Amino acid sequence: MKSLNIGLIGYGFMGRAHSNAFRKVRNFFPGKIQPVLKAVCGRDGVKAAEFAANWGYESVETDWRALIARKDIDLIDIAAPNNVHYEIALAAAKAGKMILCEKPLAMNPVEALAMTKAVEKAKIANMVWYNYRRIPAVTLAKQLIDEGRLGKIFHYRAKFLQDWTINAEVPQGGPGTWRLDASIAGSGVTGDLLAHCIDTALWLNGGIDSVTAMTETFVKERKHSLTGKKQKVLIDDASAFLARFSNGSLATFESTRYARGHKALYTFEINGENGSIFWDLHDLHRLQWFDHKDGGLTRGWRSIHVTDGDQPYMKNWWVPGLAIGYEHSFVHQVADFLQGVESGRPAAPTFRDGLATDYVTDAVLKSAASGRWTNVKKA
Ligand SMILES: NC(=O)c1ccc[n+]([C@@H]2O[C@H](COP(=O)([O-])OP(=O)(O)OC[C@H]3O[C@@H](n4cnc5c(N)ncnc54)[C@H](O)[C@@H]3O)[C@@H](O)[C@H]2O)c1
Repeated sequence: MKSLNIGLIGYGFMGRAHSNAFRKVRNFFPGKIQPVLKAVCGRDGVKAAEFAANWGYESVETDWRALIARKDIDLIDIAAPNNVHYEIALAAAKAGKMILCEKPLAMNPVEALAMTKAVEKAKIANMVWYNYRRIPAVTLAKQLIDEGRLGKIFHYRAKFLQDWTINAEVPQGGPGTWRLDASIAGSGVTGDLLAHCIDTALWLNGGIDSVTAMTETFVKERKHSLTGKKQKVLIDDASAFLARFSNGSLATFESTRYARGHKALYTFEINGENGSIFWDLHDLHRLQWFDHKDGGLTRGWRSIHVTDGDQPYMKNWWVPGLAIGYEHSFVHQVADFLQGVESGRPAAPTFRDGLATDYVTDAVLKSAASGRWTNVKKA
């Protein structure tokens, strides 16, 4: 077994999700490379040390540059907010470290392109944490589409709805609420939530050619948690767009943090000539499937409980009928990444795939600003 020394940057929500995945992966997915939790990096040394003790990291750094400079680190895992992805990734690529980077890849496509070129030039393994691809029901949807079961695809429909920023007293900036500060997040729901929907869509249904979008910022000013002052809100609270895919299908995408009652309602539906698929994050181990070939009085939508050993990833977990959840998508992502390193066949989504999503979100924001249909650049 060969060791792969991990240096994690950021010990928040994703720092926990990734650490859990690195710890569990070899218990469930055997392989030749063993991730080792070598160091965690956060600006607050006390909190970083607490995190290290809880998750079993061997050491702590408070400056990501020092982490990258260490000879005993093989892989940099970027689980910090969007505004630092670029600088960290460029430095890590220069140092020849493998990189796992959280989504969205960057603040804008200019940064994302430079990051993509840097990892490709350095020939280092790279991946973006678009984890929803690896929820077994979503991976099964990909298999059904690739087998041609849906036939020609006409429609793709996705939404990602939340409700946590309706209260105007929610601040911008600072832990957790950095998502409302455009200087840290880049954009609002477009880069945060729709980026997930877009990554899944590009994977399942191919490239997007053009979009027309609208965005809205419902609460115009919020207190900044670091300055204490009311400041203009520059992120999009809600975003909706129409898209034309290269395969001729039409799509609608919608995301908001103002859909009262919805916490993380990510759904997609795909309608093809021979069948349809529907998936819902709140019921993530099920795939809804309609097959037009089904005849007779019992035809209708099937709810497939994706837990059997021949369904994606499930033979490595429990016994048929027993479901897994959100955190397992990260375990699958690490398993596939390590398999890619072992085999020399890199697992997706790579930085170039992350760039493709950033080109779509950029076109969405540009279209919302101009009110015009906007072409999407090809990654
Ligand atoms: N894949 C997903 O489903 C998913 C879900 C949530 C967040 N994300 C992405 O993950 C990233 C982190 O989000 P989060 O929810 O974990 O945020 P978080 O606020 O919970 O944690 C961010 C961490 O980064 C640290 N940090 C900030 N600036 C830093 C710096 N300069 N150096 C070192 N550490 C720094 C913070 O102290 C904190 O520990 C973002 O890019 C976000 O878009 C992805």
